[in-house]
Amino acid sequence: MVSVAGAPGVTTLVSAIAGVAGEDHALLVIEAPPSGGTMASRWRLDVRDTVTTTAKLAMDLASPTDLWDVAHHPWLGASRVIPAHPSAVVMRQAQAGEWLATHMPAVSRPTLIDAGRVDGSSDQLILLESVETVWLVVDPIIEQVTAARAATTWLNRTGRVEVLVREQAGDPARDSASAVAATLGWPVVATIPNDSASARALCGLSPPRRNLARSPLLRTGRALAEQLTATEVPA
Ligand SMILES: Nc1ncnc2c1ncn2[C@@H]1O[C@H](COP(=O)(O)OP(=O)(O)O)[C@@H](O)[C@H]1O
Ligand SMILES: [Mg+2]
Repeated sequence: MVSVAGAPGVTTLVSAIAGVAGEDHALLVIEAPPSGGTMASRWRLDVRDTVTTTAKLAMDLASPTDLWDVAHHPWLGASRVIPAHPSAVVMRQAQAGEWLATHMPAVSRPTLIDAGRVDGSSDQLILLESVETVWLVVDPIIEQVTAARAATTWLNRTGRVEVLVREQAGDPARDSASAVAATLGWPVVATIPNDSASARALCGLSPPRRNLARSPLLRTGRALAEQLTATEVPA
């Protein structure tokens, strides 16, 4: 999953998709944005234990590393995560995207990668070329649609692109979503509800409410998790 500009909530949506999944829909989440990640700090995970160190350790080992075994499970559900290093410098120097691209075919679990902002780097392109589907999160606002259009040629070199349109407060999302789809020429998978209470809980900023699992954002997350795990070919 990627976005083009601003901060539309890629990591929050990834957490909504993975965070409540039961065994049937468990996902391996890998956070790998070139600009550095937030999951390690949000879930108080050890920064010495991120995708960059996993890649480095695996390169030093003769036998392949099972990413599922080394992943953390900070959520209530059955999904696991390998967080990114918080530093952009460390992430870019590690070239984690290229390592993941070569390592992903060995992973038998359905995997969701948080690749952060599209940045045109070759490391990110190699990663996005290796995936089945690229989910692009956009707000239906002019600057984001323009940025996505400008990246069309680059994104058409990656896996199949599908769009997730964030609902804007006071704006009927369905109309905006179809307008965005028409402009970009990629299909819309879902509209993402504006749900700041759930988003805060998913960012570890407030304790989860009892009814979090029934909130609009988590319902959307569950539907997307079912879609991701249903399309996966069993190992
Ligand atoms: N669906 C949403 N509704 C409301 N607020 C959101 C939503 N998704 C994310 N946010 C808020 O936006 C901010 C950025 O989210 P984050 O997921 O970290 O973005 P990104 O990973 O794209 O940089 C956070 O403060 C988060 O709580
Ligand atoms: Mg993020």
